[in-house]
Amino acid sequence: MVTPEISQVLLTEEQIRVRVRALAAEISHDYAGRDLLVVSVLKGALYFLADLTRMMDIPLAIDFMAISSYRGGKGPSGAVRLVKDLDEDLTGRHVLLVEDIIDTGLTASYLLRSLQARDPADLAVCTLLDKTARRIAHTLPIRYRGFEVPDLFLVGYGLDYRQFHRNLPYIGVIRDDFLRREPASS
Ligand code: PRP
Repeated sequence: MVTPEISQVLLTEEQIRVRVRALAAEISHDYAGRDLLVVSVLKGALYFLADLTRMMDIPLAIDFMAISSYRGGKGPSGAVRLVKDLDEDLTGRHVLLVEDIIDTGLTASYLLRSLQARDPADLAVCTLLDKTARRIAHTLPIRYRGFEVPDLFLVGYGLDYRQFHRNLPYIGVIRDDFLRREPASS
């Protein structure tokens, strides 16, 4: 899929597939025999979550949270509004939070505080992309990471620019001059 706003393909479909398969194998091995609940946050992680869990070969449950938008004024503490909470009870369960990208880390930090308060047996993070250059929250329990990525505006495979481009099968970089012409609101 060619779109003029993309300057570069950072990760191809094949690179993503290979890495996701490896992560799925590692997670399946580590969580075999445990009561695994995979928790994800709408919407960015939708393709990663779908591919990752389909490549895993252990029993697992999936649940979702939704929080207020990144562009909606996430404060410096990372406090965001919970729009949809989980349906599942976390008590005594092995919980894996699946994210598409960890950037400042404030969203994950907020979510982990909320999840930890519900007494899981274990709580860890799996992120496809890790943008460490912008990290503010430095103590996240990131157990699984797909790729470390540079500080560029990325879209595709779930990641959006103003809600568009999530459905690109690869991860691409939005052109600088396009961003300059149409600055994002965040
Ligand atoms: C993205 C992503 C993470 C968060 C990471 O979500 O899915 O949840 O930003 O950023 P941070 O580490 O700086 O907190 P976004 O709020 O853009 O919403 P979306 O998932 O609906 O795209």
